Amino acid sequence: MNVVDSEVVAAILQQHNYQVTEKLDEADLVLVNTCSIRDNAEQRVRTRIREFGRLKEKNHSFSVGVIGCMAERLKEKLLEEETTVDLVVGPDAYRDLPALLQEVESGQKGINTLLSLEETYGDIRPVRMDRNHVTSFVAIMRGCNNFCSYCVVPGTRGRERSRDPETIVRETTELFEQGYREVTLLGQNVNSYRWKEGKQLLKFEKLLARVAEIDPQLRVRFATSHPKDMSDQLLKVIAKYPNLCQAIHLPVQSGSSSVLSRMKRRYTREHYMERIQAIRKYLPKASISTDVIAGFCGETEEEHQQTLSLMEWAGYDFAYMFKYSERPETFAAEKLADDVPEEVKSRRLNEIIELQSKLSLQSKELDVGQTYEVLVEGTSKKSGDHLYGRTSQNKVVVFPKGSLKPGDYASVTITDCTSATLIGNVV
Ligand code: 5AD
Ligand code: SF4
Repeated sequence: MNVVDSEVVAAILQQHNYQVTEKLDEADLVLVNTCSIRDNAEQRVRTRIREFGRLKEKNHSFSVGVIGCMAERLKEKLLEEETTVDLVVGPDAYRDLPALLQEVESGQKGINTLLSLEETYGDIRPVRMDRNHVTSFVAIMRGCNNFCSYCVVPGTRGRERSRDPETIVRETTELFEQGYREVTLLGQNVNSYRWKEGKQLLKFEKLLARVAEIDPQLRVRFATSHPKDMSDQLLKVIAKYPNLCQAIHLPVQSGSSSVLSRMKRRYTREHYMERIQAIRKYLPKASISTDVIAGFCGETEEEHQQTLSLMEWAGYDFAYMFKYSERPETFAAEKLADDVPEEVKSRRLNEIIELQSKLSLQSKELDVGQTYEVLVEGTSKKSGDHLYGRTSQNKVVVFPKGSLKPGDYASVTITDCTSATLIGNVV
């Protein structure tokens, strides 16, 4: 989501005669797009901002702005605490950037952290900052209404709102015409996408079908889904279109119903398992990935074991795994005790990571001997003679170059694997 936001910001500033540069020593302005989801993300941003402070000492016309969730969460405090910062702009105020920058140029500090109920930046054509020109992101909604008890997002990105489907289809079509072959439709909770067209309600599965119909050569992914509204209708639509990728990311967070209830996730272990079974039924070839949080408030050893057993049962192909990090002003910070000792959190996270490494390897080993259609994304980092790309299941494959180039589809037979990568030959 932050990549898309940076691309939107670049577009707004380009319209006002600013130019993007990749060279820091050429820049007069650095905007740091920030995430507040865990405390360590914020600490890294602070270190970065202080580094920019040194550049400011050398070049007095150099300005530093903080945009995104940390700007929204900390507001004026950020200007007070980080004296290097000239500009603080929240996720719904990017259109105000040119005006705020004028204030900064005249020697003042600029700040706008107003949240909006409508802003989707739907009309703005993002300036693409990806490197491969094959895969890209398209934001379809902003904000979140779920208020999971541990999460800052509803506070920093505001209420949920969906983007006009016409602009989504137009942007995606343009990407395809420019040579892109994969888009990921993005939102905090894409399956609650909804758009009223007259009396008709356009839900996420309909939008997905529309995007899939742009061209069969365009792969479409989406993230993130919430287990409470991962419907059979959506799974049926994915099954119908071969270019809708066979990869479902379904964050579980915990395998224990009592922890899920404290997290205010609004589903139980049983409901989640039933949804996994539905995915297996409609999409037997799909990969399934997840997010897991270790050591949430009050988590007992038994509750932790339930997370491990659910992971094993689901046989996840991939997972993002985190230690619980208390975030100010969330329900959990205000009403629940962050009482799992740090060393216990670390140990539990390590157990989760270890289990997932085993599951990831098992999942890849099952692919050896199979042939997959791979979308070529670029040259392998390790070897100039090899390319890398992804299967529909979102697994990275490395294979000899031949005469292929980024953006091509190749049929690749898998010959070997590690827990992170498949290795194969073009057939
Ligand atoms: N602590 C740790 N992980 C968190 N996430 C969200 N909030 C927190 C937090 N306070 C994780 C969840 C979410 C992912 C984007 O980040 O797993 O799905
Ligand atoms: Fe945060 Fe929950 Fe919304 Fe995801 S669904 S952004 S975890 S509040």
